[in-house]
Parts: sequence; C-alpha cells; structure tokens
Amino acid sequence: MRVVVAGSSGLIGTSLVAGLRQGEHQVVRLVRRVPAAPDERRWDPDSGRLDADTLDGADAVVNLSGPGIGAKRWSPERKRHLLQARVRSTEVLAKAVADSGVPVLANASAVGFYGDTGSHPVTETSSPGSDFLAGLCRRWEAATAPAADAGARVVLLRTGLVISPSGGLLGQLRPLFSLMLGGRLGPGTQYMPWISLDDEIAAIRFALENSDITGPVNLTGPAPVTNTQFTRALGEALGRPAPWIVPGFALRTVMGELADTALTGQRAMPTVLEANGFTFQHPTLGAALAAATGR
Ligand SMILES: NC(=O)c1ccc[n+]([C@@H]2O[C@H](COP(=O)([O-])OP(=O)(O)OC[C@H]3O[C@@H](n4cnc5c(N)ncnc54)[C@H](OP(=O)(O)O)[C@@H]3O)[C@@H](O)[C@H]2O)c1
Repeated sequence: MRVVVAGSSGLIGTSLVAGLRQGEHQVVRLVRRVPAAPDERRWDPDSGRLDADTLDGADAVVNLSGPGIGAKRWSPERKRHLLQARVRSTEVLAKAVADSGVPVLANASAVGFYGDTGSHPVTETSSPGSDFLAGLCRRWEAATAPAADAGARVVLLRTGLVISPSGGLLGQLRPLFSLMLGGRLGPGTQYMPWISLDDEIAAIRFALENSDITGPVNLTGPAPVTNTQFTRALGEALGRPAPWIVPGFALRTVMGELADTALTGQRAMPTVLEANGFTFQHPTLGAALAAATGR
C-alpha cells in the first residue's frame, strides 16, 4: 500500500511509519515545514494548503496530527486552538481524500469521546460524553464526513493511553515514580484504558489492511485497569513503591480543567478489534509495562 501519514513526527506517527515500512508499505509523510527528504510533502493545515496531486496514487491516508491535548493548561484560547487545529486538519485531509478518490482514511480520535463513564464498560456503540474532550472528539470525527460521503472507508481511531518506552504517559510519570513521588490520583477508581505502543501500531495497520473495519475502533488493551491498579503496577514495574495519594482538589489547583483527564476515565473495550480477530501482543498492563520499561 502507498500510505500518506500526517502527524508522522509524533509519538505514534514515528513508530507507525517504521512499522508500515517494515510491512513493505510505501510511506509519504506530510510535513508542516519545508520538506527535507524525498518521502516528505508539504502541507499547511492552518491555511488549508495541500497540493492537489499530493494524494495521487495513495491507497490510504492516516491523520495523526494535532497539538498535544495535555501539553498545556486549558485556557479558553488553548481549548479553541486544540479544537480548531484538529477539525481544520481533518477537514483538509477528508476533502483531499474525497477529491483524489483515496479509498481509506484512518483518522485519530480518542477514548475521551465517551466522557467520564465510571466503571461501566463502553464499546464503539456507546454514546458520546458531554465534557470538553468528548465534544472535541465528536467534532474531530465529524470533520471526516466529506471522505465518507465520497465513499471512502473511514476508520476513527479512538486511542487510549499509549504505553511507550519514551514520551507519552510514562514519560510524564516515570520521573515522579523514580523519585518515590508516585501515587494514586484522586479516588483511584477511575479507569485507564491503556494500550502498548506496539499494539497501537499493529492495530492501525490491521485497520488499514482489513476492509471489514469501518467507523469507530477502540484502540485499547483488552483489560483496562483502575488508576489504583495502574499506579501499583507501574510502581512494581519500576521497582519503586508509590504510596501517595494526590487529592483531586490539588490536581485541579495545579492543572485546572485538564485535571479531569486524569481524575475521570473510561472502561473502554476493544470490541471491534477483537470481533475482527486482532491479537494483542501485550494483553495485560503488566506485559505492556514490561515491554516499555525493559524490566
Ligand atoms: N499518545 C496517546 O496516548 C494518544 C491517546 C489518544 C489520542 N491520541 C491522538 O493521536 C494522535 C497522535 O498522537 P501522538 O501521541 O503521536 O501525538 P504527538 O506526539 O503530540 O504528535 C502529534 C503530531 O501532530 C502534529 N502537530 C502538532 N501540532 C499541530 C498543529 N497545531 N496542527 C497540526 N498538526 C500538529 C505534529 O506533527 P508534524 O510536526 O509532523 O506535523 C506532531 O508530531 C493525536 O491526534 C493525539 O491526540 C494520542
């Protein structure tokens, strides 16, 4: 397959490009700067610029672009930026997919689509939530409509918390745990729908290559855990006990509304992946953490 990837420099994109190439797919990377390699093509999602011939001959487009959801406090301006950047880049790509007749668009989204669902298991058919992140995911996904209307197979990648050797969630938590400052967040009963980076990449490839898969797909491991269970498992994986409890009000004081992403959660189940025969390389959190920490 010839696969065009936007957001290829990020945590998931970097590994996806490597994984696709290992699978002998041809990759074209969309970059928001002057191209510096033969496989790069320039686009400017903010102004809507994407040269008409960029997607010629492409079998699939994967859109992973967007500013980091948890990178900064959510001021009203930051929230507008997070939403507009995702909707705009998706609109540009969905229209280009439609115009060029590309058969597949796999577009990033997140399990935040479901809002705070407590301990109730959620699948791809569950309703959207009502908080900021849920609204963002809903509008992000809706922006793929031009591609679906043109007959493309659109896959909505509702990713959970990616467990990777560097960066991402472990990149934030590891330094704290190493200093023995790890601990449960708030009540600890909130679910954390994790997935290992290897399984995230394998699942995206699986969705690209499997023509039966269309619409939302939860990219989460088959055994989501609570924050208390996650904290204990990470402490064990790093050989560092994590006895502390970070009260919700303290987290909200430091992080503002962004704290809700840590204090609430979803018990998201990978129903579509499992129904289509996907096999997880890391089916338990312990296996995912062992792969990420090398222990
Ligand atoms: N990692 C997770 O745990 C997780 C969980 C749920 C959902 N997701 C979603 O999955 C996607 C990929 O995740 P990731 O962890 O790989 O993200 P990431 O490391 O933050 O990378 C995202 C990429 O988007 C591009 N980008 C940054 N700012 C942008 C902007 N203002 N407008 C357009 N593009 C911009 C950049 O690529 P270029 O500079 O190459 O354009 C960047 O490398 C994201 O949309 C993310 O929200 C991730």
